[in-house]
Amino acid sequence: MPIIAPSMLSCNFLQLEEECKMINESSADWFHLDVMDGRFVPNISFGLPIIEHIHQIAKKTLDVHLMILEPEKYAEQFKKAGADILTIHIEACPHLHRNIQQIKSLGMKAGVALNPHTPVSLLENVITDIDVVCLMSVNPGFGGQKFIPQTIDKIRALKHLIHQSSANVLIEIDGGVTLENAAALIHTGADALVAGNTVFKSSNPKETINSLKKIYA
Ligand code: DX5
Ligand code: ZN
Repeated sequence: MPIIAPSMLSCNFLQLEEECKMINESSADWFHLDVMDGRFVPNISFGLPIIEHIHQIAKKTLDVHLMILEPEKYAEQFKKAGADILTIHIEACPHLHRNIQQIKSLGMKAGVALNPHTPVSLLENVITDIDVVCLMSVNPGFGGQKFIPQTIDKIRALKHLIHQSSANVLIEIDGGVTLENAAALIHTGADALVAGNTVFKSSNPKETINSLKKIYA
């Protein structure tokens, strides 16, 4: 069964506690938390205090997606705030290997995210060092965008790379995931699906999470 990671960016922040409880009670696996700095991406979202609060009531893995420059400056604070998985962008990290080692030495799982234009082959020399690859299927910065279909080919290329290097890495897809395209993503090799609008803008978020969860590879 796929890992389902609702993106809290699309939740109702006036009811953050209720939204977190809903995720706790649902069949979702991870809380996906999008941090944006207004520099790496053209938007600003939320940061450490919100994550600390979510951590107080969340009963599931906190999957923190950093869309920020210089993530090494904040990795320790995100660990303290409760991050279990810390994902950084390859495009923001000239010293990616060092950043991955830092995240792991802090006791978190390390994820690397790739923008839609970034080829999977750039991961060749770090693939055995990381736990998650997050393939962006939209340009990062906003929820509710349209899925970029070339992502399917990237999943195939990434699967091949993982297989070749005998790496133990989860493939996470982030952006524009819907009930319509989720099956194709899973069948091609995705392990984890992020879903923001699809979950939180639906009339029955828990049922929508269930429907995503029930897709078999
Ligand atoms: C986009 C974020 C995504 C976003 C997904 O930059 O990384 O996690 O919240 O939202 P949807 O599922 O609505 O595209
Ligand atoms: Zn994200």
